[in-house]
Amino acid sequence: MDDLNDTKGFPLTAKIIDGKAVAARLREELATEVAAFIQQTSVTPHLAAVLVGADPASAIYVRNKQRACEKAGIKSTLHKLSAETTQDALLSLVQRLNDDADVHGILVQLPLPKQIDETAILDAVVSAKDVDAFHPANVGLIVQGRPRFLPCTPAGIQQLLIDSGTIVAGSHVVVLGRSEIVGKPMALLLMQKGPAANATVTVCHSRTQNLADITRTADILIAAIGSAKFVTADMVKPGAVVIDVGTNRVDEKLVGDVDFGPVSGIASAITPVPGGVGPMTIAMLLRNTLTAARLSVH
Ligand SMILES: NC(=O)c1ccc[n+]([C@@H]2O[C@H](COP(=O)([O-])OP(=O)(O)OC[C@H]3O[C@@H](n4cnc5c(N)ncnc54)[C@H](OP(=O)(O)O)[C@@H]3O)[C@@H](O)[C@H]2O)c1
Repeated sequence: MDDLNDTKGFPLTAKIIDGKAVAARLREELATEVAAFIQQTSVTPHLAAVLVGADPASAIYVRNKQRACEKAGIKSTLHKLSAETTQDALLSLVQRLNDDADVHGILVQLPLPKQIDETAILDAVVSAKDVDAFHPANVGLIVQGRPRFLPCTPAGIQQLLIDSGTIVAGSHVVVLGRSEIVGKPMALLLMQKGPAANATVTVCHSRTQNLADITRTADILIAAIGSAKFVTADMVKPGAVVIDVGTNRVDEKLVGDVDFGPVSGIASAITPVPGGVGPMTIAMLLRNTLTAARLSVH
């Protein structure tokens, strides 16, 4: 947890929400479920990952996801393509994986090279194997409050809120960022009826006026903008729960979207970077892969 080195000189009053520990527990529970599923069905859940190009960060993300699969008893295969891969070649690989009955989940690591239309590729993944929950059919189910697959990062954050005993119902949640991957589905999950939901949600983005006035009203502040240490202490209400989704590489170090040291002296609970949201995203991906395997046998 590099963030904890940044607290020198600041009063650390916030409880640290240890995503690494929560994710490790979830992965253990999942491994037991996977073993039981294999015993009942003789089917081993299988996640196929597609990595295009040689982006080092993407390669690390994929490797971490593969390792986590193996530890949970989930089969994982990697399809590595060159940075010059054409859209047609990638589409035909996705089609092959769609048609392969042995594959239950397909993960296309983003970002894709410039010559490839990301939306076209994500739409091509058959919705029953779309373990990232990016397909319009799966997003529609999330919007309607009857998800088939949970959006991985937002669902991981929701689990951290549950685990840390944060009261979400009736709280004002401010989500910074409106991306399809984090901000938008996060807002959807928390505004639904149900456990760790029923919140009043405000979504902010780059065109939001008087941003700090809004963030200061948040009981729960979720930062997902991709800008290192953007959320400063003066933007946080004393006692707020702060969830930092950001993963920004600064001087070879991972830094969140939250200025951790000063903010941890004001917040009541906070996630570190690394070791907060990131491990939860992977745990939820594994859960979705087991769900996909279950769907395939029913
Ligand atoms: N830990 C994990 O598992 C995980 C998973 C996914 C992402 N991430 C990290 O989370 C961060 C966000 O990722 P993303 O994919 O959601 O990013 P994204 O697609 O780049 O979206 C960023 C969002 O932040 C908004 N924004 C940017 N600058 C802003 C500002 N100054 N004030 C207010 N809003 C601003 C943008 O507004 P506009 O829409 O107006 O442009 C956009 O909605 C990144 O650091 C990413 O690496 C981490």
